[in-house]
Amino acid sequence: MSDAWLAGRVVENRHWTETLFSLRVEGAPLEFEAGQFVRLALDVDGERVARAFSFVNPPSDPVHEFFGVVVPEGPLSPRLARLAPGQTLYLAKRAAGFLVLSEVPDAQTLWLLATGTGLAPFLSILRTDAPWRRFRRVVLVHAVRFARELVYQELISGLKRPEFSYLSFVSREAHAGSLAGRIPAAIADGRLEAAAAVPLAAADSHVMLCGNPDMLRDAQAALAERALRKHRRRAPGHITVESFW
Ligand SMILES: Cc1cc2nc3c(=O)[nH]c(=O)nc-3n(C[C@H](O)[C@H](O)[C@H](O)COP(=O)(O)OP(=O)(O)OC[C@H]3O[C@@H](n4cnc5c(N)ncnc54)[C@H](O)[C@@H]3O)c2cc1C
Ligand SMILES: NC(=O)c1ccc[n+]([C@@H]2O[C@H](COP(=O)([O-])OP(=O)(O)OC[C@H]3O[C@@H](n4cnc5c(N)ncnc54)[C@H](OP(=O)(O)O)[C@@H]3O)[C@@H](O)[C@H]2O)c1
Repeated sequence: MSDAWLAGRVVENRHWTETLFSLRVEGAPLEFEAGQFVRLALDVDGERVARAFSFVNPPSDPVHEFFGVVVPEGPLSPRLARLAPGQTLYLAKRAAGFLVLSEVPDAQTLWLLATGTGLAPFLSILRTDAPWRRFRRVVLVHAVRFARELVYQELISGLKRPEFSYLSFVSREAHAGSLAGRIPAAIADGRLEAAAAVPLAAADSHVMLCGNPDMLRDAQAALAERALRKHRRRAPGHITVESFW
């Protein structure tokens, strides 16, 4: 094994649907900040194939958890989905990424907007103290194609407190209790802030976006209409993004 990799042991591979899975991995001690990712790898035909995966677990939990979707033609995700308890996968020794609260300026409301597996880093963040210490309101939004993809309901229910709201979007079927359509349209027409019952405005909000790059682009355009702009260390703003592809 090269110096750059740790060998982790799969302890669980939970299949939520035919395409969504969560891997739990132990034996790979790694330091990271909630919201970061690490490269996971398998050896395929003698070559190590590696892809970034966000931690679902908080840093205090030594068993790492990753939430994945099978991209059928992809070189790594179908193989990760087939891993069984006891099998080995490799984790890069260093975690990375800027979708972390230490990079986010103070605000009244923290909005966490995800499509698909982009939910993962927000679950890690929400299981630390920082969001509850720093923000008066925290709104988690998960957008999926089908209702069966609204996973991690038990974990999310466990986050219940007065300052927390959880909203979902289901785009390809009607689903009671979820908003219809896509996140950017609901930002533009005011449905998102109405559902959360909190303003989405530059004066009081910071928005973290994760998942599909088209959602990131369209949501940033809708947020720009509300005068929210990308946050940079040298030019503080209101939006932090992480694209999954
Ligand atoms: C910073 C970062 C963090 C990431 N964290 C996660 C994570 O927590 N969970 C996760 O499942 N993936 C995550 N990804 C994507 C992941 O690295 C892989 O791209 C993905 O697992 C597919 O791998 P692959 O080798 O099978 O196909 P690839 O060759 O990597 O991807 C092929 C195509 O599949 C689509 N695709 C890739 N990833 C996704 C996805 N997550 N959801 C929907 N479509 C996708 C894109 O169209 C992409 O071009 C992350 C990517 C980045 C850059
Ligand atoms: N989800 C599945 O049933 C399924 C099945 C087999 C394989 N896959 C693999 O996984 C990939 C897709 O996975 P996924 O469904 O998790 O992710 P996704 O395609 O990113 O869809 C997740 C959510 O993001 C929305 N979205 C897409 N583009 C958007 C935009 N520009 N602005 C705002 N929202 C947007 C989708 O809405 P729309 O529905 O309106 O696009 C959907 O509600 C596929 O490429 C495929 O390889 C998925």
